[in-house]
This record gives sequence, structure tokens and C-alpha cells, in this order.
Amino acid sequence: MSKQPLLKPFDLNGISLKNRVVMAPLTRNRVDNTEMLVSKDLHGKYYQQRYSAGLIITEGVAISPKSVGYSHIPGIFTKEQTEAWKEVTKMVHDKGGKIFMQLWHVGRNSHPDFHDGELPWAPSAINPNIVMRTPNGKQPTVTPKEMTLADIKQTIEEYKTAAVNAMAAGFDGVEIHASNGYLLHQFFVTSSNHRNDMYGGNEENRSRILFDILKEIKKEVPLQKVGVRLNPSLHGIFGIDLNIDTIPTFDYIIKKLNAYDLAYLHLSEPFNDVSEVPYAITQIAERYRPIYKRNLMINAHFDQKKGNEVLQNKLADLVAYGKAFISNPDLVERFEKNIPLTHWDTNTFYTLGKKGYTDYPILGRKEAK
Ligand code: PHB
Repeated sequence: MSKQPLLKPFDLNGISLKNRVVMAPLTRNRVDNTEMLVSKDLHGKYYQQRYSAGLIITEGVAISPKSVGYSHIPGIFTKEQTEAWKEVTKMVHDKGGKIFMQLWHVGRNSHPDFHDGELPWAPSAINPNIVMRTPNGKQPTVTPKEMTLADIKQTIEEYKTAAVNAMAAGFDGVEIHASNGYLLHQFFVTSSNHRNDMYGGNEENRSRILFDILKEIKKEVPLQKVGVRLNPSLHGIFGIDLNIDTIPTFDYIIKKLNAYDLAYLHLSEPFNDVSEVPYAITQIAERYRPIYKRNLMINAHFDQKKGNEVLQNKLADLVAYGKAFISNPDLVERFEKNIPLTHWDTNTFYTLGKKGYTDYPILGRKEAK
């Protein structure tokens, strides 16, 4: 029997991956200190257990204090945070794994309780009207502060510093989180961006911040080590709705990304059923595979069969699995040996400590845990 497409190696623009099974970025809220430091015992062990993934992408990591919108998440903007991550990358590399850091700025999807009472930043002063998990329980969002040009410039530089720190911490690369309704997505879509300067208006202007970030990062980190994540059909979640401008905007961004020598473009299939929603693209890989000429990673709702199919049909090069990796550290070995998957416990997705984090069974490996 020929090898499953998921298990074939892949050249990620110069980084060799042993298979095409990617661990998707997953917020897990396991940081138990105010300095936003990861630990060897928790984060190190968790990522190390998942070393057999072709590529691990970390949880979203805060690029600055202003980028935070969740409790107990790690950061990559101080020297101590960078040092702490070094231990995690070493533990993954010691096992032959590859790991990228996801760089995260939530923009308006935050709360003043994360910012000493000050307003979160966004392209425009428009409330996403969602509920956030804050240090003081679940709370509704507020109307954010419209970013000045100086705020935008500072944020672009913070992305670069975060990328430089991540590379210094030993990561194989970084992923720019430009999806799921967070800051960069807020710039892209017309419902959250009413600016009339160079960062608002037409598609070129609404996507300018992403390309400015790539240009800035490129000064210090080769773009071959940079991935970009987009979720073109996000609808009714994280404060984003589809509208008449959505498809032209993402078509524009994705076409333009062809000119950038990235590690990969990471696209999500719709998170929910958008088949009845106007302006929805229901099949993301099918639409964007012919448009995007470089490495394409696809994610959301894939199982082993669908993952093999999407690769076999040449609609993507890599498949990212999220929840399956939470409860199956040895997901790759389970695919290899057809071992049934352990189901995840949603109650421990976002809780502190080891439970539901580093204690899922590893069945597909002979070695001791
Ligand atoms: C979440 O924690 O709910 C979350 C974080 C980042 C995402 C999506 C969801 O991209």
C-alpha cells in the first residue's frame, strides 16, 4: 500500500518536515505568572510530547502588552519571555521536532481589564459586541480606541521585535495571526475598518498593515521562515460577519501574497455552516489553491480521511489539526498505525495545570513518556 499523503515528507521552503501533519495553534491558557512566562514542566512537556508532528505551531503569543485579550497566555516581548521559550524550543528540537511561534495581537477583541482600565486598540472605534474571558470573568467588549498612525507604526515594529525574539528563542519560524477577527483581520474587513487614511478604504489600504509587517520583519528574519494565517469565511464569530467586500478583499490579499517568499499560507475552512450566508466561500481550499502558488496549509474540521483526501486532490500541501492534537500527542503515530483517537475534554481546554494538558495517553510510541 502506498504511503498516506499525510505521512509524506515536505520541504517547507527550506525547512524539511517529516510529514504533512501540522499541530494547529491552540490557546490553552496555562501560564500561571504575571510575567507571561512559559515553563519547562508545562509548556515544554506539552509541546515536546507532540514532536512527531511535521510542524508544531504554538498557541497565540502576545507581541506586546497592548496585544493581550486573554488571561494566562504567554508573551514574546521581554527578555525573560524569550529566555523561557528557549527551553521549550530546545525540548522540541531534542526530539527532532519543528516549531513555529504564532504572533498574536487581538486588537479590539480584548477588555480594559487587560490594559489598566485603558481601551483596547483597533482600526476604528467600533465595538465587536462579543464576550471575552477576562481576569474578572466573562465580560462584554467595549468600543475600542481608533489607532493613530503612530500606534500603527509602533504595532508594526512590535511584530518585528516579536519575530526577532522568537528566532532568538530558537523557533524555526513564526506565523502571523491575521485571522479569526483579531487585529489584522479587523483592518481587512469593512465592518470593523472605517478609516479614511492609508490603512482604510480600498483593499490595498485595508490590507496594508499586513504587508507593512512582512516588509518590516524581512529586515531581520527571512520570509522563508514566516507563515501567514487567514480565515476568509469567518462569519458570526469573533465580531466578524461576511459582506459584499469580503471575497474581493481576500482574493486581493492572497494573490498579492504570491509575491512574498513565505514558508506557507495557512487558511481555515469555514468554522461554521455558511452555506446559506450571502457572500460566503464555502470551499476555501478549492477557491484558493488555484490562486495561491506557494505552500498552502489548510485547517478546520479535518480528520485523517479528509486530510489525506485534500492532499491527494492537490488542494493543499499541509493539514493542520487542532483539537485532535490536544488529546492525541502521538496523532501522527495513531494515523500511521490506525490507532483510534482519544476524545478531547472541552472542560480542560482553558484551565490551569497539567490536567487535560500533559496527561493525555500516548499509545502509539514504544518509548517511555
Ligand atoms: C480562543 O481562545 O478562543 C481563540 C484564540 C485564538 C483564535 C481562536 C480562538 O485564533
